[in-house]
Amino acid sequence: MALRLGDKAPDFTQDSTQGPIHFRDWQGDSWVILFSHPADFTPVCTTELGMVAKLKPEFDRRNTKAIGLSVDPLDSHTRWAGDILETQGAALNFPLLADADRSVAQLYDMIQPEASATTTVRSVFVIDPKGVLRLTLTYPASTGRNFEEILRVVDSLQLTDSQRVATPANWKQGDEVVILPAIPNEEADKLFPQGYRQVKPYLRLTRVAE
Ligand code: BEZ
Repeated sequence: MALRLGDKAPDFTQDSTQGPIHFRDWQGDSWVILFSHPADFTPVCTTELGMVAKLKPEFDRRNTKAIGLSVDPLDSHTRWAGDILETQGAALNFPLLADADRSVAQLYDMIQPEASATTTVRSVFVIDPKGVLRLTLTYPASTGRNFEEILRVVDSLQLTDSQRVATPANWKQGDEVVILPAIPNEEADKLFPQGYRQVKPYLRLTRVAE
């Protein structure tokens, strides 16, 4: 059955470019971005892996670990890492699962046969420190992902876990946020002493410390 938001992310043990990984132990108390790519030595994937490597300081700042996956074997990942460094100017600084037996790809439904019978699609799973799935995305092989957008979602999830707000369209850190509609004005007055703008009774905007 497909994984849904709120489900516990399945645990697994698999080989990686940083040695065998038991997922739950490796995660610790971090957020995780688990993502699959179709195949090593392919152009879009090369740019994606280079981008994730370059964004490592941004992941670290959010207590978030990245982990990639394809069904290629470990020796292929190791050889490809050289190309990523050479062409993208970034060393592979996060683990890449070598899921040659497809065990993790099957657990997370990353092989979608109508797209490709033999390779994984571009899946993304954001998993919180309690091991709960908080975001799922599926991109086709031909479209490289925007990892800054995925970081933006992590920002939103982390903010909305700690404050009773939601984030509007195209929100980014520092922008106004939305007060949850379930909060009556009398309570909002106390929760948000900095004040808020009421555009409609259900659309109230405020700024919060992040
Ligand atoms: C790529 O990463 O460039 C790619 C992989 C599979 C199909 C199409 C493109």
